[in-house]
Amino acid sequence: MSQTILIETNEDLKKIFALNLQTFVGTDVIHRKNAEDALELLRILPQVALIIAKCKVGNEETALKIHQYIKNEGLNTQLLVIGECPGLADETLCLQEPVSWEILIKQAASHLGVTLQDATTKVKPDYFPVGIYYFYDIQRTPCDVYIRIKKGHNDYQYVKRIHSKDIFDKQDIQKYEDQGLQEFFIPKDYIQYFTTFVTNNLVAKLEREDLTLEDRILTTANAHEIVRDKIQQMGLDQAAIDLSDASINSMVKSVKHSPEVSNLLKFVFSNKVSYAYQHCHLLALMCHYVLSKQSWYKQEHLEILSFVSFFSDVTIKSHQQMQISALKELAESSLTDEEKHQVMNHAADAVAILDHHPEASEYIKTVLLQSHGKTDGIGFEENPTEELHPLSKVFIIADCFVKTLLNPAMPSSKREILPLLYARFTNPSYQKIIKALEQKFQ
Ligand SMILES: [Fe+2]
Repeated sequence: MSQTILIETNEDLKKIFALNLQTFVGTDVIHRKNAEDALELLRILPQVALIIAKCKVGNEETALKIHQYIKNEGLNTQLLVIGECPGLADETLCLQEPVSWEILIKQAASHLGVTLQDATTKVKPDYFPVGIYYFYDIQRTPCDVYIRIKKGHNDYQYVKRIHSKDIFDKQDIQKYEDQGLQEFFIPKDYIQYFTTFVTNNLVAKLEREDLTLEDRILTTANAHEIVRDKIQQMGLDQAAIDLSDASINSMVKSVKHSPEVSNLLKFVFSNKVSYAYQHCHLLALMCHYVLSKQSWYKQEHLEILSFVSFFSDVTIKSHQQMQISALKELAESSLTDEEKHQVMNHAADAVAILDHHPEASEYIKTVLLQSHGKTDGIGFEENPTEELHPLSKVFIIADCFVKTLLNPAMPSSKREILPLLYARFTNPSYQKIIKALEQKFQ
């Protein structure tokens, strides 16, 4: 899928444009604040196909700056300008404001080489799919909910399944899942309302002090899925920020009182927790194990590493992609070139997303960028150097341990995994971290 950077300052337009670009043009939308912000990303992702930018953001000559950069670097990236921009009118298409989303997608489609017909003849969806996990922690919905039945080729019928006044519980939802249902459908006018409702409910639940440990882990796992889904569909919005904050706090709480690894594994497997959250939670737990053995340990460190672990693979889509922890594995995998590219860049991409998260400190971004041993967030280092931040080193060891543990093709006992880590990470401070992990298991 192509990637498009969108620089739009109006929050409502931002959402409408992104949703429709994604739906009708089939391009992945990445939000950026201004030219500086966009160029920073373009330096790591020069293959971005299209940039849609406001002519000006504040006093910044946004479109002009981007145009200059593309020209100087000889990039193939296309530029589409929102608003009149006299300095560029001869070279680039500048859409007069106010710009409707219909016009915007038509132009975006034509810039991306998706023929106009492709974009306009696609049926505008009246319903949006939402994963079944959106329903695990709510007992009612603010709108009617539908399932989709296939009638013929490209012909679907939507049947109302949950009325807005119905009360249900997780068992009711489970029954649909047992029948193979993976998503419900929400009428398009209610989608924003629905996801906000679910998010608010989840935040309230995660903030409760009386949750059992099991309920806390399962609720955080669902929240993690929803944050990932929202970020991959729409970018990081306020609801995703609020939900991620509540989830990370909840995860820190549960990690501190976690059952030991084998019982925790049994619990997450028998409750069908997603691979993404199994990895995220176990990773935070292993970081906690190592940190608790360090003389310099402070609560803040666990919070930082939990934050990084929550967002570390947020842009990666498939389980297979998430399992990779070395260049060799990536090269030997059956992933497509595009999927490999996503894996290669995922740390840098996650950092770019966190630019819009107010809680993401420079400290967090550094550790995330170095989370696979590289300082630019691209690729994997087989044997990372001593130059990295001490917290990055803890994260790298914990991540490799967890990925091995969760990979059915790899050893699953601590006794077999630790020697693999000692052999791969040979620098002294990494050996000490592995030792700390080993002591924790004794
Ligand atoms: Fe990662």
